[in-house]
Amino acid sequence: MDKTSVLFVCLGNICRSPTAHAVFRHTVGVAGLSHRFLIDSAGTSAFHSGSQPDARSAAEGRSRGIDMSDLRSRPVTLDDFEQFDWVIAMDFTNLADLKRMKPDDAHAQLGLMLDYSTDFKGQPVPDPYYGGAQGFKTVYDQIEQACVGLLASLTTAKK
Ligand code: 4NP
Repeated sequence: MDKTSVLFVCLGNICRSPTAHAVFRHTVGVAGLSHRFLIDSAGTSAFHSGSQPDARSAAEGRSRGIDMSDLRSRPVTLDDFEQFDWVIAMDFTNLADLKRMKPDDAHAQLGLMLDYSTDFKGQPVPDPYYGGAQGFKTVYDQIEQACVGLLASLTTAKK
């Protein structure tokens, strides 16, 4: 069976989308389905290209058993809309930017991360960059819940 490919996108690719990348990778691994997925993340900006995830995201991840030390920021490219089945935005600005960028005949389907959650449907993952540690905990809580729903959705949906 073909792998299902998922690209998580935020603005900087150092806080929210690497969190989604690492948490979804973990969730898929625990389910024994790593061989079925190709997972990556990117930013709508190149502000932090080449950088490791924000230290506050990494610290919160470590406290939850999530490792993101191998991840590096990169910008979204046009090719991503061909290479990935799903491109999942963290907030409405990311989603609008992706809609503008996406070629008309592109393969990828776009989604909003928290639409896959139970408690936060229709909401953005708030940008934690300029706030304190609690913002990073909230990001994890929301993304952990959405990753469970996303995996359920992608393992029941026909390709
Ligand atoms: P992210 O957070 O989009 O979740 O990675 C941000 C990271 C950096 C900036 C903004 C948001 N920034 O303006 O540099």
